Formats: sequence, C-alpha cells, structure tokens
Amino acid sequence: MQKLLIRGPARLSGTLVAGGAKNAALPILAAALLADEEVELSNLPQVQDIRTMLKLLAHLGVESERRGDAVILRPTGKANPDVAPYELVKTMRASVLVLGPLLARRGHARVSLPGGCAIGVRPIDLHLAGLEALGAEVEIEHGYVETRARQLTGARFHFAKPTVGGTENLLMAACLARGTTVLSGCAREPEIVDLARFLQALGAEIDGAGEDTITIEGRDRLGGARHRVISDRIQDGTYLIGAALTRGDVTVEGSRPADLAPLLEKLDEIGAEVETSQQRIRVRHRGPLKPRGVVTEPFPGFPTDLQAQYMTLMTQAEGSSIVSETVFENRFQHVPELLRMGADISIDGTYARIHGPSALSGTSVMATDLRASACLVLAGLVADGETVVHRIYHLDRGYERMESKLQKLGARVERID
Ligand code: EPU
Repeated sequence: MQKLLIRGPARLSGTLVAGGAKNAALPILAAALLADEEVELSNLPQVQDIRTMLKLLAHLGVESERRGDAVILRPTGKANPDVAPYELVKTMRASVLVLGPLLARRGHARVSLPGGCAIGVRPIDLHLAGLEALGAEVEIEHGYVETRARQLTGARFHFAKPTVGGTENLLMAACLARGTTVLSGCAREPEIVDLARFLQALGAEIDGAGEDTITIEGRDRLGGARHRVISDRIQDGTYLIGAALTRGDVTVEGSRPADLAPLLEKLDEIGAEVETSQQRIRVRHRGPLKPRGVVTEPFPGFPTDLQAQYMTLMTQAEGSSIVSETVFENRFQHVPELLRMGADISIDGTYARIHGPSALSGTSVMATDLRASACLVLAGLVADGETVVHRIYHLDRGYERMESKLQKLGARVERID
C-alpha cells in the first residue's frame, strides 16, 4: 500500500492552479444519466472517486471517453441494468446520487444502501422521503433500496435538515417529473449551484439553486450540454491553511473567494494576510497565529470538510481554541493521530479543545478518511523529522497528486510503496 513520506519542517511558498471540484463533478456525472444527447465536461479532477463514478455510469449505460482535457459522455442506447451494485457503492457513498436520475429517466432504480462510513452513520432517509413525495414507491430489502415510478409527479417537499446529496438527488429527479416541484430547507452549497447550472444547460428549468427554496418545472426530456466544473474549494482551502500553518505564502489561481469566505474570514482573524481578487486567493503568514474557534455548519457556515485541516492549524496558534463539529457525529478520528505527533487536544462530545502551540514531531500515522488524511499531511509539514502517512488511498479519493502540488510549493514530500 502506498504512503506519503514528509520531511519537515517545511515552508510552503508559490502558486498553484485550482483543480475541479470532486463534490461538484460527482452529482454532475450522475446527472449525465438524464441526458438524451452528448455531454462534454471539462475540469473534472483526476481523483479516484471520479474514476469510480465513470465506472458506475458505464455499468448503467453511459459510456465516456477523453477528448483533450474534457470527458465526453453519451448514452449507449443498449438495454442496461438500473442497478448500482454493492461492489461499487461500498467504495464510494456518492454512488447513491444515481438514484434520483435513474428513477426519473427509467422508472426504476435499485441501489445498494451506502451504509455508514468512518465519519458517521450517514442515512439517506431524506433522499427517500423526497422521492416518495414525488410519487415513487420505495422498498428496502436485502441491503438495497428499490424505487419505482412510471412517471414522477411534481410536489412540495421540505427537508427536515439540509442535506447536500439529498438536495442533489431530488433536484435531478424533479427535472423529469410532470409539473412543478418546490423543494424547501435545501442545502445551499456551491456544488448544488453548479449542478443546477449543468441541468439548466441540458434544458431543465430551475429557479433558486443556492437558496433555501428551489423550484423546478419538469420537462419531458433533457438534451446534451457542455459544462466546466467549478474549482474545488476544499482542496484550495487545504493549501491555503498550509500557507498560514507553515509561515508560508501561497496563491491559488482560479479559486473562488466567495465559496471559501468562511475559511478566509477565519484566516484573517487568526492573523494571516488574505488577499483576493475575482479568481485568485493569496494567503501569507504575517506573525504569531491567534487561536480562534470554529463551528462546522452547512454552507455558508464553516465547512466540515476543512475541520480536520483547521485543527492542525490551531495546534500552532498561541493559546486555546475550540472546534465544534455539528454536521457529522464521528469526525474527530484524526485527533488520536495528532496526539501521537505531540498535539495537545482534548475531546468532549462534539467539541475539541486545542492548546497551542505544540512542537509536533514526525512519526507514522494512519489516515482514516479523506480529510483526516489531509490534516495529517499538513501536520507532517510542520513536524520535525519524518512523518509517514499510511493508507493514502483515502487521500487519493479527493486530492489530485497532493505530493506534486506540495513539492511545487517547496515541501519535501514523496510517495513510497
Ligand atoms: N443526513 C440525514 N439524512 C439524509 C441525508 C443526510 O440525516 O437523508 C445527515 C447526514 O448524516 C449528515 C448531514 O445530514 O449528518 C449532512 O449530510 P449531507 O447529506 O449534507 O452530506 P452528503 O451529501 O452525504 C456531502 C459531501 C461530503 C460533505 C457533506 C457536508 C459529496 C459527494 N459529499 O456529503 O464530502 O462532508 O456533503 O458538506 O458531495 C468529503 O468530500 O470529504 C465529504 C465527506
């Protein structure tokens, strides 16, 4: 199994070009199931989760090929299964995003229940309640969810709590429902807005994406489209945190400051220098880091996907800070590994109190999920000596060649077998 070897301490300095957002690309790829004609997507990140989704689409009858920097997708037109099997879903929860489009387009979908994962239980009850509101029959048997509806019908549905995947599944399904659907209590993440833009390019009529209430007028069919996926705010945010952490100076070109506002405000508060223009963010170390707490929340709150990386940053702040995780119930698994590197962190339920600054020292650590892996790599950059991060297959699910980007910024990082 591959590992990352980091020789610290490092100072990150230089410019990176932002890559495409995994969490925008995944639902957009699932939405290609709705298209009658060719779809051309550019700025897809080259990460494992995207390869898994393309494999799932091929299984479901949407073939893909590379054309330069873009990926072309088209329906094969053959009789294809409407089943997302356990073997694929178990490697990537986001496979559940094919449920809405498959059902809407083919009248039937059978998708393996994704189950929990390292960060929490992650039920899909709200996805299913929403599809039922559109007239689908939903049955759960033998670990699969099976949904049927000859024709979905527009309806009003309120999400009892904001869910990114749930909002995306319902948005996609409603595009081919008969009549008007009004979804309220929706998640408002930038990735949902990007999905809506793609669906609109296919011919869907959608109003309100990025707000609490989204209205969709169903269409009989959707055509084809060309679309460029937005940049990845979480990857960008990870490198910008790295700049503040390592007393460095990092610029990300092509990044979208509005999508990262909650992080950039925090970086400014803790004493880093933040400079933004429309498509560019620069973060520079300015002096000692001040401790500041964060509470993770749905967008526009502080993203749970940057919580672990921010915690590494707070190990270097002068004083105590509290990180509160409200989105997932088990997202502090990086803490025991940070403790092994010399951090001073105590956990009380959903709160973690970090006392800084701590002199971290390199050792072998185990990644447990995607963002926890990134936080350990960051810790390796400020630690003294060698840090080996094991199980980096988690990292490769969502970060494009992280070691080459860090090398470009001057860090001594290599991938070893
Ligand atoms: N929830 C329910 N019922 C549902 C759906 C969700 O109770 O039917 C709960 C979840 O258990 C969780 C909360 O609602 O406590 C929010 O979950 P959400 O559905 O918003 O998350 P998701 O769609 O499963 C996406 C991202 C995650 C990111 C979260 C929150 C993708 C493919 N995944 O997951 O990304 O953490 O939104 O922003 O978009 C990552 O990239 O590392 C990652 C985990």
